[in-house]
Amino acid sequence: MRKQEFFGMAREQAVALLAAAPVVRLAGVGERGQPVLRTLHAVVLGEWLYFHAAPVGEKSEAVGREAVIAADETVATIPSHVFDPERACPATTYYLSAQAHGALVGVDDPALKARVLQALMEKHQPEGGYVPITADDPRYRGAVRGIAVVGVPLTQVDGKAKLGQNRSADDLGKVLRFLWARGEPGDPRAVDLVRAANPGAPTPEFLLAPAGARLRCALGPADVSAAVELLAGEYWNVDVPRDRIAQGQLASSAWVGAHDEAGALIATGRALGDGARWAYLLDIAVAESWRGRGLGKALVRLLLDHPRVRGCRRVELRTRDGHAFYRGFGFRECTELSGREMALQR
Ligand SMILES: CC(C)(COP(=O)(O)OP(=O)(O)OC[C@H]1O[C@@H](n2cnc3c(N)ncnc32)[C@H](O)[C@@H]1OP(=O)(O)O)[C@@H](O)C(=O)NCCC(=O)NCCS
Repeated sequence: MRKQEFFGMAREQAVALLAAAPVVRLAGVGERGQPVLRTLHAVVLGEWLYFHAAPVGEKSEAVGREAVIAADETVATIPSHVFDPERACPATTYYLSAQAHGALVGVDDPALKARVLQALMEKHQPEGGYVPITADDPRYRGAVRGIAVVGVPLTQVDGKAKLGQNRSADDLGKVLRFLWARGEPGDPRAVDLVRAANPGAPTPEFLLAPAGARLRCALGPADVSAAVELLAGEYWNVDVPRDRIAQGQLASSAWVGAHDEAGALIATGRALGDGARWAYLLDIAVAESWRGRGLGKALVRLLLDHPRVRGCRRVELRTRDGHAFYRGFGFRECTELSGREMALQR
């Protein structure tokens, strides 16, 4: 089988990678035929990728000529000893990469230029704090006219997701167990990405879940609104605004969950902690229709085994009526406080 058949990435995924990348690289050709390589801020609007440039300079010189714009993300380094105790050869890196190929086109329409500049602001200054850019606003008219905006059509886009697709089921099991055990900051997400790219791979023991549920080691921004839906009605969140619940999920040291076969979020649980001495579990919930099937147990077991939690000597939580559930994991009620604990309730 050709490599591309293993690692090819769907076009939408490649475009999404280019759109989300904090920076992209432009490889083009200047007026004298010299190679031009630049790091850029770029945005995707419709079927185009755009960036801005000084009206004079190598980036602008590359307009009208063929170019490649690329983005990539390292998912995880995989050491050779995962596969072989002696030979260095199997050492590899799992990554995502995407490229758009095409001739660069200069944008003249001031309204489109303003939209691109505004989209760049929204991406890189999402908190606002400025008047939105429009072409006819006197505050921006001169700047919009003076700056060059360049686009490349997203007609020729390809991508690669190197995530172990060429490996046997046995090797994939080794990779997943290794990543979870190593537990470096990106490793829980790498476990999820490797599993998503290899749906036929057997489920490792630490991810065993009731039939139809798939545990996730690292929920992220795409799961926030579904997690808020699961959590907003629970008793400990009744007075908490939804945006605060959302903010809390994203600030977690560990955030695990489960999806059903259609990809809907059906469980969520998170922890804060220092990864060594202390952790606190919170916002643990299973969708009502999934309760009583063992998913909560699988979720909490995964959370307690998370790299940021598993080494902690003390793990705390508060519960109104889940004592019996948590006792099953070894938790005990702290009925006798030593007088040393203090709390600030705000
Ligand atoms: C608590 C919760 C996460 C458990 O999830 P679940 O998927 O229903 O739990 P499981 O099916 O894995 O149950 C595991 C065990 O705990 C028991 N259990 C589940 N919820 C319990 C509860 N609230 N009180 C006592 N025991 C409970 C089950 O009977 C089962 O026991 P078993 O292993 O002897 O059969 C889920 O009920 C939930 O989301 N509740 C609402 C939110 C909540 O209260 N969260 C916890 C806040 S601290």
